[in-house]
Amino acid sequence: RKTAILISGRGSNMSALISAAMQPEYPAEIALVLSNRPDAQGLERAADLGIATAVVDHKEFAGDREAFERQLDAVLREHRIEFVALAGFMRILTPFLVGAWSNRMINIHPALLPSFKGLATHERALEEGVKLHGATVHFVSAEMDDGPIIIQGAVPVLDTDTPDTLAARVLELEHKIYPKALALVAGGKARVAGARVTGGGCET
Ligand code: GRF
Repeated sequence: RKTAILISGRGSNMSALISAAMQPEYPAEIALVLSNRPDAQGLERAADLGIATAVVDHKEFAGDREAFERQLDAVLREHRIEFVALAGFMRILTPFLVGAWSNRMINIHPALLPSFKGLATHERALEEGVKLHGATVHFVSAEMDDGPIIIQGAVPVLDTDTPDTLAARVLELEHKIYPKALALVAGGKARVAGARVTGGGCET
């Protein structure tokens, strides 16, 4: 199934998805990497790996989020994309794009949702003193960092952790669960049933 990855920066989750999709039998093909920032590091990495890339620069749409998204949607359609994986894509989405890709767009968030939505998740996890932290892959819905959960992974929080050491532990886990989640979705195994997903999973 033709899949696009949307990025804004480094693209380490993007790389993990591309590597997984190079394995035989993987149910998704990464057909496009699309960035809203022309200088996103991940674009170069994707091109080096032989993946088609495109840029839709949000700055060219003068704050008109829907016009920006209409252009994104047009590029996705041009490439005959069936699934979209957001991987560090730092734009808030309007109901237009969310609706157009309902049940076909997934995101990874570096926390155990519904805890710690938004930014600075690792700092906040340490401030709250949680003992388990992690990452979540979920279908994208109209609310930010919301939507039916496909896979969650958990890691321990250590007494010695700083936001950086905790972020590194979570990132390693992200790179494992995101390829699994995309495989479940593209392979038709994880399905939305109301507010929940059946056929998802967890990892520690
Ligand atoms: C990841 O922590 C992801 O969970 C969050 O943004 C970060 C992106 O990192 N949404 P990368 O670009 O995949 O390296």
